[in-house]
Amino acid sequence: MRRILVTSALPYANGPIHLGHLVEYIQTDIWVRFQKLLGHRCIYVCADDTHGTAIMVTARRLGISEEELIARMYESHTRDFADFQIHFDNYGSTHSEENRELCGVVWAALRRAGLIVEKEVAQLFDPVQGTFLADRHVRGTCPRCRAPNQYGDNCDKCGATYSPSELIEPISAFSGVKPEVRTAKHLFVVIERLHDFLEEWTQRSGALQPEVANYLANVFLCEPLRDWDISRPAPYFGFEIPDAPGQYWYVWFDAPIGYMASTLQWCRRQGEDFDRWWRDPETEIHHFIGKDITYFHTLFWPAMLKTAGFCLPRKVHIHGFLTVNGEKMSKSKGTFVEAATYLKHLDPAYLRYYYAAKLGPQIEDIDLNLDEFVTKVNSDLVGNVINLASRLARLCEGKRLALLYPDDNGLFAQAAEQASAIAAAYEACDFNRAMRLVLQLGDRANQYVDRMAPWHLRKDPGKQEELRSVCTVGLNLFRVIALYLAPVLPKIAEKTGELLGKPIQHWDESQTPLLGVTVGQYQPLLSRARREQVEAMIAESREPEEAAEKAEGAASAANSSPAAAAWGKSRSPQEQDTAVSPEDDKPLVAEPLLPEISFDEFAKVDLRVARVLAAEDVPGAQKLLRLTLSLGGENKRTVFAGIKEAYRPEDLVGRLVILVANLAPRKMKFGISEGMILASGEGGKNVFLLSVDEGAKPGQRIH
Ligand code: MSP
Ligand code: ZN
Repeated sequence: MRRILVTSALPYANGPIHLGHLVEYIQTDIWVRFQKLLGHRCIYVCADDTHGTAIMVTARRLGISEEELIARMYESHTRDFADFQIHFDNYGSTHSEENRELCGVVWAALRRAGLIVEKEVAQLFDPVQGTFLADRHVRGTCPRCRAPNQYGDNCDKCGATYSPSELIEPISAFSGVKPEVRTAKHLFVVIERLHDFLEEWTQRSGALQPEVANYLANVFLCEPLRDWDISRPAPYFGFEIPDAPGQYWYVWFDAPIGYMASTLQWCRRQGEDFDRWWRDPETEIHHFIGKDITYFHTLFWPAMLKTAGFCLPRKVHIHGFLTVNGEKMSKSKGTFVEAATYLKHLDPAYLRYYYAAKLGPQIEDIDLNLDEFVTKVNSDLVGNVINLASRLARLCEGKRLALLYPDDNGLFAQAAEQASAIAAAYEACDFNRAMRLVLQLGDRANQYVDRMAPWHLRKDPGKQEELRSVCTVGLNLFRVIALYLAPVLPKIAEKTGELLGKPIQHWDESQTPLLGVTVGQYQPLLSRARREQVEAMIAESREPEEAAEKAEGAASAANSSPAAAAWGKSRSPQEQDTAVSPEDDKPLVAEPLLPEISFDEFAKVDLRVARVLAAEDVPGAQKLLRLTLSLGGENKRTVFAGIKEAYRPEDLVGRLVILVANLAPRKMKFGISEGMILASGEGGKNVFLLSVDEGAKPGQRIH
C-alpha cells in the first residue's frame, strides 16, 4: 500500500471558481479517487491562497476587510467544489496559524543555510492605493504598436515584451493614476546556490514531464539562477517576517507552504503524525498544477523543501489551459463561465466526463468545444454507458441475478482483463485513454444486449431463466464499467451500488461478477445534455462588451489566470512584483526545441531570397494572401501565405522574403501554392516575416 499526498494549486481568494480552474480540480479529484479505489492510503489537501496585493485591493474596492473577503471566498469555493463532487480531505487557508508556523520553520532553515540576502529594489508605486505594483497591475499604451490598455509586461496585440516603465502613459490598474518609481529593501533567496541540486532533481528524478524538464533546462538552468525576491514592504496583506519587521513574506513564499499547513490541520484533526507525511521519504507527494505556475513549483518550491529537510515532490503533474470554442475564455462572449453558473444549467457529471475524455498526460491546452461537449456527453456517456443500464435495469427490476455466472462467451473475462490497462492509464493521468478503453467495453456490452433482445424474452413465460441470464451478464458488465468510471463519475457508481444492493468500493471488484443479489428499483442515472441548456449558461455568463473588458482587466490585475499565459511567464516572480522583467520565455515553451539534426539534413531545405512582385487578397479566404514572388529573371512562384491579418498587401510589394523553394507544391482550395515563405509568430495578427538585409539578390541561396 502506497502512502500518497496529493495537492492541487491553491486558488486565489479574490474571485470565484470558473471552468478553467475546474480542469485542474477535476483532474486531481479523479486521480485521487482512483488511488483510493485501489486501496492506497491517499489524502487530497488544498486551501485558498489568501495573501498579496491583489486581495488587499479587491477588499478595499468592495469596502470590506481582507478577512471578510477571504471568508466569503472560502464559502463560495468550498461550495462549488462540493457541488462538482471534488472531495478534499482538508481544505484550508494560507491565512492560518498552521501556515504561519510552517513558514517560520522554512524561513529559519533558509536563514540558517545563509541563503537570504538584502537588496534595494526600485518598483512602481501607486500613490493613491499606497501600494507597490506588480507588472500586471500596470496598464498603458504599447510602446511598439501603440495598442491602448496593455499590461506592464507584454502587449496582447503585437506580442512585444517590455518593462512597465516603457509603457506610454502608464496607469495603475487599481486606481487609474500614474505610478511613481520608489525604492525599498527586499529580502532575496540566493537560489543559485542550489543550482546543482535543481539540475539533478529537474532532469533526473523523474518528477517532471519530459517537456517540462527540457523547458527548465533550456530557459532557466542554462545560466545562473537569479536571486528570488521573497519579501514585500508594508503595506502588504500577508505574514510579517518575524526577524524583519515591516517586511512581509511574498505571497508565493507562503502559498506552497499552504500545502503543508493544510496537511497539518488534517493531521491534528485525525491524530496523524505530520512528519510521516512530509518528512518520511516513503510518502509520495504529487502536485497538480497549471502550466502558468510551473516555475514556482519546479524551482523555488523544491529548493525550499530541500533546504528545510522536507520530502521533495515525487511528481509534479502539469496540465494546459482551458480554451472555450478554441479561444481564451471571454466575458463578452459569455465563455468565462463560473462554476456556480454552470451548475444552474448542467449536470456536473457532464463536465467531469468531458474533461476526463480530453485530458492526457501532456501539457497541451484543452479545448471545451460547446458543440462537441453536447454530442460527446450524449453519444459516449448517455448513449453508450447510461443507456446500457437503463435498458437492462427496467427489465430486471425486482429480479434476482443468477447464482452461477452464465456462459457469456468470455465477455466478463474480457472486461475484467482490462482492469490493469485502464488502471495504468489512470495512474499515468492518461484519462483520455482510460475513457476510450471503457467505451469499448460499453460497445461490446450493448451489442450483447441487442443480440439477446431481453425485451422479447420478458414476454415469454418459458424464457424467464434465459432473461435472468441476460440480466446477470448485462448488469455485471455494466457494473464493471461503472466501477472503471467511478473516479470520474462517483455519483453513478454510487447509484449503481444502490441498484445492485452492494456498494462499489474496490478496483478489484472488477474481477468477480456479482451474483444472487436482487435488482432494486431503477433511478435514472443521467439525462441527455441539451443545447438550450448550454446556450442558457452562455447567455447568463455574457457581460456587455464594455463591462466585460473592465472586469477582465480587473480580474487579471487581481492575479487570476490569463488563459493564454505561457508557463510561468505571467507569474515569474521577478516579473510579478518588481520592475525588472526577465527575458520572455513564451516561444521556447510553446514550441520546445527539436532533436538535433546533421548539417546534411539541414542542407536538404533549399531556402532562397525572393522579392514580392504582387500581393493580393484571396476572396473567400480569411487568412490568405496570394503572393507572386520573383526568384530573379523569369523565375516566378505563386505562394499562398496565411499573413492577411498581419500585413496589408500594399506594404508587401517590393520587399524581400525567404522562400522554401523545394517544398512540394500544395493544392489548396484557391489554387496551388508553390512553396512557403518564412515567418515566426503564432498566427493571426502575430506573424513576423523574415527578411534579409538590403543588397541580397532574389534567387540567392540561404545557408
Ligand atoms: N494561487 C495560485 C496558486 C498557488 S499554489 C501554491 C494560483 N491561483 S489561480 O486561482 O490563479 O489558479 C489555480 C490553478 O488553476 C492553477 O494551477 C492554474 O494554472 C489553474 N487555472 C486557472 N485558470 C485556468 C485555465 N483557464 N485553464 C486551466 N487551468 C487554469 O495560480
Ligand atoms: Zn503592441
